[in-house]
Amino acid sequence: MRIRVPGDKSLSQRALILSALGRGTSRLKGLLCSGDTESTLRALRGLGIRTPNIPRDGSEVFIQGVGLDGLKTPDDALDLGNSGTGARLLLGVLAGSNLSATIDGDASLRMRPMARVTKPLELMGARFQPLGRVGRLPVTVHGSSKLKPLEWSSPVASGQIKSSLLFAGLTGRAHTVLTEPLESRDHTERMFNAVGAAVTGRETDAGWRVEMPHPPDEIGPLDFTVPGDISSAAFVLTLVALGGAGTEVTIQSVGLNRTRTAFLDVLSRMGVDIEVHDRTPEGSIEPVGDLVVRPGGLLATSVGAFETPFLIDELPLVAVLGACAEGETRISGAQELRVKESDRILTVTENLRALGVAVEELDDGLIVQGVPGRKLSGRVSAFGDHRIAMSFSVLAKATGGSIAVADARVSDVSFPGFDQLIQKLTEQV
Ligand code: S3P
Repeated sequence: MRIRVPGDKSLSQRALILSALGRGTSRLKGLLCSGDTESTLRALRGLGIRTPNIPRDGSEVFIQGVGLDGLKTPDDALDLGNSGTGARLLLGVLAGSNLSATIDGDASLRMRPMARVTKPLELMGARFQPLGRVGRLPVTVHGSSKLKPLEWSSPVASGQIKSSLLFAGLTGRAHTVLTEPLESRDHTERMFNAVGAAVTGRETDAGWRVEMPHPPDEIGPLDFTVPGDISSAAFVLTLVALGGAGTEVTIQSVGLNRTRTAFLDVLSRMGVDIEVHDRTPEGSIEPVGDLVVRPGGLLATSVGAFETPFLIDELPLVAVLGACAEGETRISGAQELRVKESDRILTVTENLRALGVAVEELDDGLIVQGVPGRKLSGRVSAFGDHRIAMSFSVLAKATGGSIAVADARVSDVSFPGFDQLIQKLTEQV
């Protein structure tokens, strides 16, 4: 069977924001239409951007940018819903804009740490006034379009922190240097380079160093086709790997950025047969290709700190696969999982235990004792977290037992049509 998955969430978020800041009309195709991207679009509208709705079928949309100084003071707080990326990237954009605005989010987003971006943004000259707990949303940003240069070492490898600071450097016209312990996803760097804001990245003794030396006064419009989200494809790959979707599935036009593909390496190590067919068009900002997956006898594996930034969102799936693999699967160096839409170390551990799987919770990961071929049954929760909902829905569909996932509808945050697609794939078995 040949299928597609919805557009990449990280890329859609960045493309929407960058298009709003460009001079001229951006053309975006394949945008993800989901809870998170709609939250970002709503916030951009609050800042005076006039844009059409995101089409559900991925057809092209045109966004009229207002330039780096064109955002308007919003009338109300900007509600970013569940979207950590939307909130953190916009904190950066607003830090470098001559206006004041309040950013807020849902109960989950209000729990997530924001000081990791507001601290360096304060050093650049922006001011933040917390309206609730310090270091959390809601917060009012008082920005300035003349920020100070920044040289910052981030203690965590995070695409959101890096992007927030680069967006601040862009709108606030500030020389921006960031070093992160390991390279995180590089989508912002690629997109900035495509619109005329030169950003470099290189390995140093201190970690991965990213620099935007000369932020331009204006950026051009973006012309971009968003590939399918490899983090959404990962659910399908897992379903096939667990034997729940026949002998072969092809997922077409998936983003294959090397900073996102470590899950494919993990699947190969576990014995899953994956073929990658590069179909990147000439001049494309991001690599794209097709994935062909066939099930194999699952073997346990280890995922350590050096890999985690390149598959951070797929780690719940590694644990789910580990439960059905031969041997002990170990995930470590993944403390960041504790500050996602839920504490994913805890929520994965609790759910696997509820199904009778032996799991040891570590500070920075977990160890899962796999039992191949065992029927798993029990009641698990989504904990309001889209990726936890989908990881356990896949496990429920693929294993012969009876697993009930409470509150599974939250998948709309990143993967509209998830249930229907999984249904279609399982029906062919
Ligand atoms: C994202 C980066 C990652 C990831 C999130 C999206 C991004 O978060 O988990 O789903 O778009 O930059 P961190 O930067 O917090 O690791």
